[in-house]
Amino acid sequence: MQDRIYGHDLPEALASTGADAAIILGSGLGYLTDDFENSVKFDFSEIPGFPESTVEGHSGQLVIGDFAGKCVIGLRGRFHYYEGHTIDDVVAPVRLFAQLGVRKLIITNASGAINCSYSPGDIVGVVDYINFGLKSPLSSSVAEEERSPARVITPIDMTWLERTEAKLREFDIELRRGTYTWVLGPTYETPAEIKAFQKLGGDMVGMSTVPEISTAVSLGMGVLVFSCITNFASGITSEKLSHNEVVSAANKARQRFSQVVRVALEEM
Ligand code: HPA
Repeated sequence: MQDRIYGHDLPEALASTGADAAIILGSGLGYLTDDFENSVKFDFSEIPGFPESTVEGHSGQLVIGDFAGKCVIGLRGRFHYYEGHTIDDVVAPVRLFAQLGVRKLIITNASGAINCSYSPGDIVGVVDYINFGLKSPLSSSVAEEERSPARVITPIDMTWLERTEAKLREFDIELRRGTYTWVLGPTYETPAEIKAFQKLGGDMVGMSTVPEISTAVSLGMGVLVFSCITNFASGITSEKLSHNEVVSAANKARQRFSQVVRVALEEM
């Protein structure tokens, strides 16, 4: 266990967590930490080495607690590249998890459907990604130990995903599978971009996750990613996209999403 990160002392309760897993909770999915027991909470501003918020007020919370029989760190909120953070800022939480000894990471996000067979409210188990953000945290100056030219990136722990899918079927929850396309944002895509991503093999599109996957995998963690489809991507339907639509679809999937994460932790 490390009690220092980036040369700063960590609060004692954080340094000694001994967490089994961490979960990054995307837009509208932060409610999951409400179900943690014996929880201890830290505002991002209390965590040495975390970037300063680029928006006024509350930037996010790190919550440690018991969930699904495991000690879990839940990240309520994340750092997006489009907020003006550097790529190192975006993956700072994952580097912290690694230093705390976390070996398993579940990443969640909200995304727009490119694949026409998806519907808002579907939960997709990500099996691969397209890095259309064209940035990698592994090329940064602080990523020396994460860089290994010989390492083949297998983004997802497929054995863990398959076990989770099989168990979820017992609860009548069928996960979709798909390839996630990362864009920098902050605007939603144009219809022509979505057509192009469709041709490239993307099933959904979103503004997060891919940098976190790269860092986590290169630091030896097993990673699962669950994406909540909140809307059809631009041009797939004629409806205008809005952030409210994203939050309300994420809310609709709430119970199933909690169950998916719970089962994934049980099957870890
Ligand atoms: N595009 C990009 N990011 C998103 C979308 C989308 O359609 N929906 C939710 N996050």
